[in-house]
Amino acid sequence: MAVPGSGSAPSVAELLGRAPIFSALTERQLKSLAKTVKVISYPAGGRIVKQGEPGIALYLLLRGEAEVRQGTRTLARLGPGQFFGEMTLLDEQPRSADVVALQAAECAVLSRWEFWGFAKGEPEVLQAIGREMARRLRGANRALSE
Ligand code: CMP
Repeated sequence: MAVPGSGSAPSVAELLGRAPIFSALTERQLKSLAKTVKVISYPAGGRIVKQGEPGIALYLLLRGEAEVRQGTRTLARLGPGQFFGEMTLLDEQPRSADVVALQAAECAVLSRWEFWGFAKGEPEVLQAIGREMARRLRGANRALSE
């Protein structure tokens, strides 16, 4: 565990705590979540999720940036603290887009059953996901009307 202010690399729990969807969690909850997630590294250009494929996980970018793409079209750019993969987690439909690492990236990955086991007791997390989905939909609507 990194000591705050010591200059050492932040722990997974600290990185999770910087994510807006986990802002309501206590330090204890963040530490427990950090033990549950799987941390996966991706090289620059690596595809993290593939459009059309089934999926069972929610991803949260801990380090690096990623782009959401449909074919040659870029839908969004995501940075540390942002999540993706929630659509398939919620509606059990195939992945709606590719998500590609723009540089070496690290993601915290939570399976569907781990996510629901955790989120059902944390309405703030679900509310924050809904809020971010609304923000993304508003952005998509704005882009359509431009
Ligand atoms: P999912 O469909 O599971 O896998 C691809 C992910 O890309 C999707 O979940 C969202 O997390 C993300 N995504 C799809 N469309 C957009 C968009 N317009 N803006 C931001 N993220 C998106």
